[in-house]
Amino acid sequence: MIKSRIISTGSYLPERVLTNFELEKMVDTSDEWITERTGITERRIATENQAASDLAYEASKVTLKRAALGIEDIDLIIVATVTGDMPFPSTGCILQDKLGAKYATAFDINAACSGFLYGLYIADGLIRSGMHKRILIVGTEVLSKITDWKDRTTCVLFGDGAGAVIVEPTEEDRGIISMYINSDGSMWDLLHMPGGGSRNPASRDSVDKRLHYVKMKGNELFKVAVRTLEDLVVKILNENNLKPSQLSLLIPHQANLRIIQATADRLGIPMNKVIVNLDRYGNTSAASIPIALDEAARTGRIRDGDYILLEAFGGGLTWASALIKW
Ligand code: UT7
Repeated sequence: MIKSRIISTGSYLPERVLTNFELEKMVDTSDEWITERTGITERRIATENQAASDLAYEASKVTLKRAALGIEDIDLIIVATVTGDMPFPSTGCILQDKLGAKYATAFDINAACSGFLYGLYIADGLIRSGMHKRILIVGTEVLSKITDWKDRTTCVLFGDGAGAVIVEPTEEDRGIISMYINSDGSMWDLLHMPGGGSRNPASRDSVDKRLHYVKMKGNELFKVAVRTLEDLVVKILNENNLKPSQLSLLIPHQANLRIIQATADRLGIPMNKVIVNLDRYGNTSAASIPIALDEAARTGRIRDGDYILLEAFGGGLTWASALIKW
């Protein structure tokens, strides 16, 4: 049976590091509060001129190079982002142009922090159906540009970055074993950006009311996240007759260390089997899982034949998981 397999990973993080200590000078916060409540100590910030497609381009170049592929080998580009270069065209099409991907089709996905896994889900289906042969999936975010730097409840959380993978078909006993994507729109207002769309188009008033920034009910989101992520992991493992102890690695979306620890604790997965990089990058939304996956792959934390589990939770609300035999 044909499955899809991740054959290459890559990531790009902007150079500029913004530390908790710098944030202490910008809003009423402290390194201690941020570290204790979130696990974040620093994050990367894009330059004024960098947009989502620029970060995506850097991550894509590395991913193609590691796969020893040219852009003509890619027939589909899926970009997951909530901070696209502009409302339209898609950031996928802008990235297609930058990469010179003449033989590919490109589009975007908006599923907030679950966006990369939504992209992987679509790619997996298209590969298994035989409709596409080699797909580039990129999670890219420049959240610093939709962050309200006067709001201490959100500005300490986010960072910029991009991660990418390439998937292709395989008949080997490895690859993406199973995936789930889910959403519950009844809680959309827990995490959103009200301005800039057709509900509240950009105007002097929308800017004055600070509508073009992320609004988050963090504490409510936290509770739903912990509950949902545990159920999500249990479900995908049960459906595949696997126990948490059989997982070599859990690669969660990097929103909050306490959420990651709570999920791992409830499942009895030791933290040395969990990838954590939010201390260095903060929450990079759709980019967080491909960045973490790339780090894990590059640092030798994943070996052939390992079972690894990716899981995400975010605005929408959306959540998703992927069980992979590497
Ligand atoms: O990626 C998509 C999914 N995102 C998530 O899942 C995020 C989930 N939520 C969280 O990670 C956490 O809820 C936060 C890190 C956002 C907040 O942590 P919390 O423990 O839930 O804090 P809280 O919102 O209940 O606030 C506790 C206190 C409040 O003060 P009072 O009302 O108790 O006096 C806040 O005003 O902490 C205050 N506070 C801060 N203090 C210093 C909020 N932000 C800050 C801050 N520095 N940056």
